[in-house]
Amino acid sequence: MREPFIVFEDVGKAYPGGVTAVRDLSMQVAQGETVVLLGTSGSGKTTTLKMVNRLIEPSGGRITIGGSNVMGQDPIALRRGIGYAIQHIGLFPHMTIADNIAVVPKLLNWTPGRIEERVDRLLNMVGLPPAQFRARYPAQLSGGQRQRVGVARALAADPPIILMDEPFGALDPITRDQLQNEFLELESAIRKTILFVTHDVFEAVKMGDRIALLDEGRLQQLATPSELVERPANAFVDSFLGRHRFQLALLTRTIGGLLPHTPGAALPPPPAERCGGAVLSPRNSLIEALDTFKRTGQTVLSVVDRDGYRGDLAKSRLLNEVAQVLSETGNVV
Ligand SMILES: Nc1ncnc2c1ncn2[C@@H]1O[C@H](COP(=O)(O)OP(=O)(O)OP(=O)(O)O)[C@@H](O)[C@H]1O
Ligand SMILES: [Mg+2]
Repeated sequence: MREPFIVFEDVGKAYPGGVTAVRDLSMQVAQGETVVLLGTSGSGKTTTLKMVNRLIEPSGGRITIGGSNVMGQDPIALRRGIGYAIQHIGLFPHMTIADNIAVVPKLLNWTPGRIEERVDRLLNMVGLPPAQFRARYPAQLSGGQRQRVGVARALAADPPIILMDEPFGALDPITRDQLQNEFLELESAIRKTILFVTHDVFEAVKMGDRIALLDEGRLQQLATPSELVERPANAFVDSFLGRHRFQLALLTRTIGGLLPHTPGAALPPPPAERCGGAVLSPRNSLIEALDTFKRTGQTVLSVVDRDGYRGDLAKSRLLNEVAQVLSETGNVV
């Protein structure tokens, strides 16, 4: 694993009045990794997130970032170095979009020129053309556009860490999907360390390198999406995945395992006229492969990775695998 960056050691949060929101949480988040905090309402996700930037102080244990305890740092300075995006973004209504995004860079005394350049770049990145949007006020934006501004603002000062609490919540499924995809693209370019809160298992599987599943303040499993789906650690995890298990397996299983085993050198390339240029990657999920077959109308597709041609996959082989997954997960969605 890459070097741990954010480390939770036996972290707990008990509120006065007897609610224990988080218990004995130990986990490590690597530099550049996205860990999704997943769980039902009240499981302790927001509390866990807010302890990282000290909006909430732990009542036990330790959180370190790059080796230094967050409790030893000035909370205001700490927060300037950590991007934070939440569902109801809390944009300042009397400030333009540009000024909203520029809040932290201004606090950090960036020059006006640098701030302007950064704001325009971020607006372009989140798909809001600056000429059209920088001078508007939050009330003149749709909900989805405001969420984009929230993401831009979290990235504004180029912090190494971003905390996101249901940042795409309260959006229609299509806009949500689009924002998720855009963020994934963005994220692969910027490689931040991200803690991302959601209660939606599909969003967790899509966004997370790893998923931390919480229940009643306890960490139930910390695993990659495919490990979580294929090897639930306990009965709680199993029941949490519940009736979604078939769909989740189609999303997390890749077609790599369906290829003929070819040790050593790559195979010779397939005939050039094959499939009009459409190819699969061994890292494609079963769902993605099904989509590609549907889109192209082919019955056989070539599989290609960075090292070259890996072999062919027949649609019939893929459908067999889907049937196999269905029988293993034992239910129909
Ligand atoms: N200030 C507080 N005082 C007392 N209890 C609190 C306080 N804030 C949160 N809690 C309790 O702590 C538990 C965890 O809350 P938290 O906000 O972390 O949950 P969550 O997983 O983010 O839930 P949701 O999905 O609904 O946002 C809940 O039982 C909640 O009622
Ligand atoms: Mg919450």
